[in-house]
Amino acid sequence: MPYQVLARKWRPQVFEDVVGQEHVTRTLVNAIKENRLAQAYIFCGPRGVGKTSVARIFAKAINCEKGEPGVPCNKCHSCIQITEGTSVDVQEIDGASNRRIEEIRELRENIKYLPSYSKYRIYIIDEVHMLTKEAFNALLKTLEEPPEHAKFIFATTEPHKVPLTILSRCQRFDFKRISIPLMVEHLKKITRAEGIEITDSALLIIARQAEGSMRDAESLLDQVISFAGKRIDEKDVINALGILDSSIVFDITQAIIKNNLKEALRIIDELYTYGYDIKIFFHMLLEHLRNLILCRIDPDLLELLEDEKERFKRQADLLGEEKIQFMLDFLLKKEQEFMSSYNPRLFIESLIIRLSRLRDFLGLNEIIGKLEQIEKRLLMIPERPSEEEKGELEEKRIEESAGEEKKEEEEKSWQDFLEFVSMHNKPMYNVIKGWKLMGIYDNRMDIRPNNQEFSISYFKDKERYELLRKYIKEYFKKDLLPRFEIDKQRKKKKKSISGPVQELLDIFQGKIIEEIEEYEEGGE
Ligand SMILES: Nc1ncnc2c1ncn2[C@@H]1O[C@H](COP(=O)(O)OP(=O)(O)OP(=O)(O)O)[C@@H](O)[C@H]1O
Ligand SMILES: [Mg+2]
Ligand SMILES: [Zn+2]
Repeated sequence: MPYQVLARKWRPQVFEDVVGQEHVTRTLVNAIKENRLAQAYIFCGPRGVGKTSVARIFAKAINCEKGEPGVPCNKCHSCIQITEGTSVDVQEIDGASNRRIEEIRELRENIKYLPSYSKYRIYIIDEVHMLTKEAFNALLKTLEEPPEHAKFIFATTEPHKVPLTILSRCQRFDFKRISIPLMVEHLKKITRAEGIEITDSALLIIARQAEGSMRDAESLLDQVISFAGKRIDEKDVINALGILDSSIVFDITQAIIKNNLKEALRIIDELYTYGYDIKIFFHMLLEHLRNLILCRIDPDLLELLEDEKERFKRQADLLGEEKIQFMLDFLLKKEQEFMSSYNPRLFIESLIIRLSRLRDFLGLNEIIGKLEQIEKRLLMIPERPSEEEKGELEEKRIEESAGEEKKEEEEKSWQDFLEFVSMHNKPMYNVIKGWKLMGIYDNRMDIRPNNQEFSISYFKDKERYELLRKYIKEYFKKDLLPRFEIDKQRKKKKKSISGPVQELLDIFQGKIIEEIEEYEEGGE
């Protein structure tokens, strides 16, 4: 027996065989059982999802001489002829090649006659949106006053091209794309029956390639079988269909996360040497990032096998939503430029390099959190009194745990200290009399001046600073380094010169390696 393509061999013959369109088949079966048939139906939906198949099953079911209601027997005269396409009562018309008014006129002529041996005369018009305007008008006349014995089933992938006047006379059913799990399950059933050994991941790749069309999935399976025979794994599918293994985008994303440029560029090189289309790869990367975002929202939104979901989740968690979104936005912004680039390889390499550098990019939430922390601490950061003390400034973080008692005591002694200063140095006293002691630590004393500009300039003078230090030492009997807190206001004024970017750089002790304009625009 010659090889029959799977899509033909596996055309559903009863409603039960139709995968993923229960919302349609259940309603149709009920209508048949309750004898509530509409005059005309229109089946809308993407290609290869079962429209024609369901139309035929429906035609068989309502004309079947034997089977129970809603289940064609597939054995009677009527059923067999419909399956073979030789029935005189059930006519299939391809709207694409019979789009002229003449054909519809002929249809209108014939429709008058009673069916020759069945209950109904059924017209299945595929790709009905292809009809010309005149043909539609002729069809409309028939739909307005159809004979009792006539039924219409229209099918179309583009219902928006069908005139409303027609649509409004039909009961409409929208067919769905076949989900990946359903498709994998169905393909498994087929391969099992065909005696083919195939791995789950191989099936998954096929299902993904099919983009919701069961017919496409079956044709792809045909291709793989003729390439690899009866034992098929992932590699066979990849090779047979000349497609990119999706793990490659996974790997490159991982390399980007790890800032492993060498690995990332190696992957690009591999793509290139194997002659894969870099532009397809680019879109796979976009798709991958989108999936990572979906995965953060709800892993069940992804049409993946369970262990794959886990893998996605891990990578998504590693990156964090903000960063993924940023990467996606970045690539989307570059898409046009990339697609028209003369050297896609160079282009994608440069994009990957830029993305790798984002490793240090923190999520907005994280940044805001840090900013708040910093803001709290900003008051406690001492100003450097002189260059010499520079090193010491780095040494210790501020202790927050000064008890209330200690505070009070310190406050009292500070007032006394001011008295002490006033006795020795009136001008200095006048400068610092309104100042506050913020805390005394092992080797330093934090003071908050009440007049920033003046204080800074006053104690910028090394001699005065040392004098203050001497007074402190004398009075507190300890060599403490006086440090003045920076006023928030002042700090801001200073920062505003270079904007929030500078602020971030300060906070994270970063430096600008490269400017990516998109980030600055989008990030604010
Ligand atoms: N829902 C489904 N369940 C099982 N098999 C299906 C389904 N949809 C499509 N197929 C397979 O694909 C083949 C073609 O399906 P069918 O002709 O019904 O699709 P269609 O929606 O009419 O597509 P088109 O819009 O391209 O005409 C079927 O013979 C069958 O093998
Ligand atoms: Mg069809
Ligand atoms: Zn029958």
